[in-house]
Amino acid sequence: MREDYKMGHLEEDELLDSPFKMFDLWMSNEIQWKSDREANAMTLSTCSIDLKPSARIVLLKHYDEKGFVFYTNYNSRKSKELTENPYAALTFLWTQRQVRIEGKVEKVSREESEAYFKTRPHANQIGAWVSEFQSSEITKEQMADNQTRLEKLYEDKPVPLPPFWGGWRVIPSAFEFWQGKGGRVHDRIKYLPSNDNTNSWFHKRLSP
Ligand SMILES: Cc1cc2nc3c(=O)[nH]c(=O)nc-3n(C[C@H](O)[C@H](O)[C@H](O)COP(=O)(O)O)c2cc1C
Repeated sequence: MREDYKMGHLEEDELLDSPFKMFDLWMSNEIQWKSDREANAMTLSTCSIDLKPSARIVLLKHYDEKGFVFYTNYNSRKSKELTENPYAALTFLWTQRQVRIEGKVEKVSREESEAYFKTRPHANQIGAWVSEFQSSEITKEQMADNQTRLEKLYEDKPVPLPPFWGGWRVIPSAFEFWQGKGGRVHDRIKYLPSNDNTNSWFHKRLSP
């Protein structure tokens, strides 16, 4: 497979001052273009304390100027790595575009996790309880037993937020917007904080 990227370009006069607004614009473009992928699916890369990287897809559930939030199990491999080494990278593969975000992470408040958990479908709320030890070995029988027991327990009751489940927020310290172009001469624009206490960002072009 070798696609020729001809859909667009990223010129300096199209850049918005805020990388958050730029992200928002590209996210809405991607949603409009309705690719087969979920536009909010992103690769989350983490690194263990002994410097071994790992990556997996998670869904972006909220973003604003405070950061980019996803939800997961706090016993999982990713959460262990984020606890040991609280830095992450997010990568979005969009239509002939890529966005990279890097930054420090923090757990979101219990109130925020609770508010999000309440919006999940009942089956997904139970799913969070079923997978209490996400990333640990389990048999099919144990999984099925857990599911049957928990479905019965919460048959006609609200499902509480599991203590081992919640959100992480990636607080960006760098963004990169990549627009694929013909002949592999792509546009790459990197945003970094201005370091002048104004909460503003500057950008520079990177060689493709
Ligand atoms: C499209 C897609 C969306 C996913 N969304 C999430 C998510 O939001 N949270 C999550 O914990 N796992 C999600 N997963 C599963 C993860 O990729 C991964 O299998 C799981 O979180 C365990 O990862 P870990 O062992 O590295 O912690 C998703 C997988 C796919 C393919």
